Amino acid sequence: MKKTIFIAAIILGLGATTVQAERFTPIKDAKILDACGECHMTFYPQMLPQASWRNIINDLSNHFGEDASIDATTQAYVLNYHLNDSADVKSTRAARKWMKRVNRAKPPTRIVTAPRFVKKHNDRDFDRMWNRLKVKSKADCTKCHKDAQRGLFDDD
Ligand code: HEC
Ligand code: HEC
Repeated sequence: MKKTIFIAAIILGLGATTVQAERFTPIKDAKILDACGECHMTFYPQMLPQASWRNIINDLSNHFGEDASIDATTQAYVLNYHLNDSADVKSTRAARKWMKRVNRAKPPTRIVTAPRFVKKHNDRDFDRMWNRLKVKSKADCTKCHKDAQRGLFDDD
């Protein structure tokens, strides 16, 4: 009897760690969804340090080959939103992971070049998924992570 409970506890414990995966608070802010969710999913502020967000959000007219510019008031709001939750200001589990090995003198210019992204997406599992789903851009998170917009990144 005792043994059964012990084993059950282990199984439940393992289950809990697997389900944890990597979580972010889903972005529900209407202004952010409107300004930053039109062309791609809204990326999580915790994935980049403040310096990266500053560079990206202060240069929206020249945004990865697109003009994503917005009026000055909205831009200030969007910048502030990202700075409040950047990888180097929040001490959530995810934010800490995304800050690891970041070169502060040369902050990442995009998420897909951030050290954590590179580390998690350079094995055969990734290559197989990339080919099977015919993904065209590493930034197209939702192709492979169905729950990405809901803040969930499983490692499958
Ligand atoms: C007009 C369309 C458009 C809008 C609006 C837009 N983006 Fe983008 N964004 C893009 C394109 C195109 C890329 C490059 C995607 C790729 O390489 O697959 C991109 C890439 C990014 C990346 C880098 C992803 C990576 O790691 O490659 C970030 C971060 C980003 N956008 C943030 C934002 C934020 C913040 C906003 C809101 C202010 C925003 N975007 C609004 C078109 C847009
Ligand atoms: C072609 C498919 C593909 C795309 C596109 C992709 N990923 Fe992944 N991602 C994977 C795979 C496969 C893994 C599991 C790697 C591992 O753990 O060995 C993974 C792992 C992760 C993890 C770690 C999960 C964990 O619990 O360890 C995070 C976080 C993540 N991806 C975020 C992103 C983000 C953010 C984007 C978009 C900017 C993205 N991914 C784009 C396939 C993809």
